[in-house]
Amino acid sequence: MQRPRTDSVLDPRADDTVHHQTLRRLLTGYWVSQSIYVVAKVGVADHLAEGPRDIDALAARVEADPGALRRIMAVLTAAGLFAIDEAGRYTLTASGQYLRAGQPGSLRALALWNGEVSYPIWAHALQAVRTGRPASDRTFGMQQFHFLARNPEAAAIFNQAMAGLAVHLATAVVANYDFSRLRRVVDVGGGQGTLIAAILRHNPALRGVVLESPAVCEAASRHLAAAGLSDRCDVVAGDFFEAVPRGGDAYILSSVVHDWDDERSIVILRNCRRAMSDAARLLLVECVLPAGAPVGGPAFSQLLDLQMLVMTGGRERSEAEYRTLLAAAGLRMSGVIATDCPESILEAEPVR
Ligand SMILES: C[S@@+](CC[C@H](N)C(=O)[O-])C[C@H]1O[C@@H](n2cnc3c(N)ncnc32)[C@H](O)[C@@H]1O
Repeated sequence: MQRPRTDSVLDPRADDTVHHQTLRRLLTGYWVSQSIYVVAKVGVADHLAEGPRDIDALAARVEADPGALRRIMAVLTAAGLFAIDEAGRYTLTASGQYLRAGQPGSLRALALWNGEVSYPIWAHALQAVRTGRPASDRTFGMQQFHFLARNPEAAAIFNQAMAGLAVHLATAVVANYDFSRLRRVVDVGGGQGTLIAAILRHNPALRGVVLESPAVCEAASRHLAAAGLSDRCDVVAGDFFEAVPRGGDAYILSSVVHDWDDERSIVILRNCRRAMSDAARLLLVECVLPAGAPVGGPAFSQLLDLQMLVMTGGRERSEAEYRTLLAAAGLRMSGVIATDCPESILEAEPVR
């Protein structure tokens, strides 16, 4: 009897060909991400922002071979980053706009980080799985943040990538958490200050502190000055494994704890707890692993979990795992607020 044909790989009756094609397509993942890296590197989106261009004009502007560029543009047009008008000229779609360097929330630096730093390290992902140690150990010869402290060029790309991600995240955090009753917020590992700047702009009476590694402080001070917030936000050079500034009503750790294994994370959390009064709150801004198996493909948090495994030796965690981690540092989870970004806000209070 002939089996009924179906195109869905989730349908147990699906033809073997469907399953085979599904795996073939999954195996092309990095072809797409590396193509995005290439167009980001040569600046396609910035040139298209000046106006529609046909392939010859675009290739001349970005110094590429027109035939090769046409092939890569065809894939990324099908992927939804570019469009072609009736005259055969390329334009940017709403997603493609985020490959522009100057676009607020730009992901160009993230594409460069992926292509130039992350991708070569993923070549050693097998080693990470065999040993449980990050593959970056072999490539960097040290932990990612120690490498960044010694390599200003890579650090600049990483910090810009984080700042690009933080723009939308900051909007989501401000929309979902009430900072208006607070006087002083400390952003621990606050990067270039994108998140604290958004919080301070929305809460004019609030003061802020960014604690960062010395190498990142200059960029944080510059960005806060450009936002007109230097008088309301101190930038403190320090090490969150040593100590965290006292006196905050709220302590934020945004995409910080996921960089570290449980042992190192608990050191950071205990230092925050030590700095907190009993009335203060801790806010983790992190992706949360789903409780069950997600439908329709891996959750973003699961993919990010692999990036942490390979790059930093950190991990994403479930709500229950965060609860346990916080408890080990004398903190109790008091709420989980989902946002329209992949990250949630996990609020914790001191155990008295
Ligand atoms: C993944 S980034 C997140 C940045 C920012 N919170 C955000 O959400 O965009 C982690 C940050 O932790 C900072 N960091 C790493 N080790 C640190 C340390 N020992 N003390 C203070 N900051 C540190 C890094 O410089 C980096 O900015």
